Amino acid sequence: MSLRLGDIAPDFNAKTSIGDVNFYTYLGDSWGILFSHPADFTPVCTTELGKTAELQDAFEKRNVKVLALSVDGLESHKIWINDINETQHVHVGFPIIADEDKQVAGLYDMIHPNASETFTVRSLFIIGPDKKIKMTLTYPASTGRNFVEVLRVIDSLQLTANYSVATPANWVDGEKVIVVPSIKTEDAITKFPKGVEVVKPYLRYTPQPNK
Ligand code: BEZ
Repeated sequence: MSLRLGDIAPDFNAKTSIGDVNFYTYLGDSWGILFSHPADFTPVCTTELGKTAELQDAFEKRNVKVLALSVDGLESHKIWINDINETQHVHVGFPIIADEDKQVAGLYDMIHPNASETFTVRSLFIIGPDKKIKMTLTYPASTGRNFVEVLRVIDSLQLTANYSVATPANWVDGEKVIVVPSIKTEDAITKFPKGVEVVKPYLRYTPQPNK
């Protein structure tokens, strides 16, 4: 069965481009991103891993550890990483799992047989420090993911984990946020001293509390 929001992310041991990794040990108390791509030496995947490497500082700033996966082998990963570094002008520092026996792909339901019997689809999981799955996405092989959007979701998740707010459509860090419905407006006014804008009784905005 596929993993759903709130489920515990399964632990595993895997061979990766930086050596053997235990997932939970690798994550420690950090947030995590585990994402699969169909295959090494493919163009869209090359750009995806390049973008992820480019955003490495942004992930670190948010205390996020990244782990990629495909069902290709370690030697293939190592040669391909050189290509990514060369063509995308980056340094891939995060590990890529060599999931040749598809153990991790199976645990995370990353092979969708009606799309491909052999290759992983573009699955992505955001995992919280509590090891629970906070967000999933699945893209087809032909569509590269937007890793700036992944960062935006992490910003939202980290904010909403600490404050009684939610983030509106297209929100980006620094913009006004929504007071969650469970807070009464009279309580919101004391809880959010920067002000509460009441558009409708159920639609109330406040400036981002941690800015
Ligand atoms: C790619 O990463 O470029 C790709 C992989 C599988 C199918 C189509 C594109």
